[in-house]
Amino acid sequence: MSNSNRNVLITGGTGFLGSAVTKAFLSLGDTVAVTYLFDDEVNRFKQYNPDLSDEVTFLYANVTEESAVQTTIDTCINKFGHLDILVNIVGGFVGGIDTVELEEDKWDFMMNLNLKSVFLCCRAVIPHMTGQGSGKIVNVSARAGLKGEAGLSAYCVSKGGVRTLTESLAAEVMDSGINVNCIMPSIMDTPMNRDAMPDEDHTRWVKPDAVAKVICFLTSDDASIINGAAIPVYGRA
Ligand SMILES: NC(=O)c1ccc[n+]([C@@H]2O[C@H](COP(=O)([O-])OP(=O)(O)OC[C@H]3O[C@@H](n4cnc5c(N)ncnc54)[C@H](OP(=O)(O)O)[C@@H]3O)[C@@H](O)[C@H]2O)c1
Repeated sequence: MSNSNRNVLITGGTGFLGSAVTKAFLSLGDTVAVTYLFDDEVNRFKQYNPDLSDEVTFLYANVTEESAVQTTIDTCINKFGHLDILVNIVGGFVGGIDTVELEEDKWDFMMNLNLKSVFLCCRAVIPHMTGQGSGKIVNVSARAGLKGEAGLSAYCVSKGGVRTLTESLAAEVMDSGINVNCIMPSIMDTPMNRDAMPDEDHTRWVKPDAVAKVICFLTSDDASIINGAAIPVYGRA
């Protein structure tokens, strides 16, 4: 596999980090499909990137649902011929609630959105990548997945799960020409984080574009000896 003209599927590719990653792969000359859940996000991507919108295949999919994930992978393979790269970016945050107060639906929401989505997408794409003898997968964990923190149990467990799931998958596919790695952001400089924490020093936060470059590197030939890694992308945050 070369470092351009690859077929890439990015879940959540219209979000804050997702948009940066989508643009980074397009700039490398790759073909990109992204999943989305709400039309607003697609419209926002098109508004801010009018010159790129026609280059992206937008696929509606709730990636916490097995059938939707399989349909998405099948659609990509039918349209592109094959899939080289999967980047699992879909995720979210629930915090500030001690575990004894945490409602079951919030726990399930975190596990489904952050962890099950990665499991389903990896499980659906790996047989295809194994068949072609090559593939790169990058998952998005978080620094919070390294250690449990008060008020963050569901988030920490789900993101820690992404890290250990990545390790299991990497061990399972190491002889199949596939690399599975994850990155661990701490806090990124997104509009949502600025709104939530207006008094913080935003200059210390990591820019999504910088994180996107690390993700692209992990899918490059130069990173082919990296498998099962959890890469910190904390910057100064
Ligand atoms: N922001 C941070 O500081 C930070 C720190 C550590 C880790 N992370 C992780 O980095 C990733 C990206 O974060 P972000 O800040 O860029 O968040 P974001 O903008 O909210 O992106 C999340 C994306 O997931 C999509 N999504 C949500 N639920 C979905 C579902 N069920 N099926 C399909 N798509 C769904 C959203 O699409 P719709 O809006 O269309 O639903 C959106 O495109 C996440 O995994 C997050 O946990 C972020």
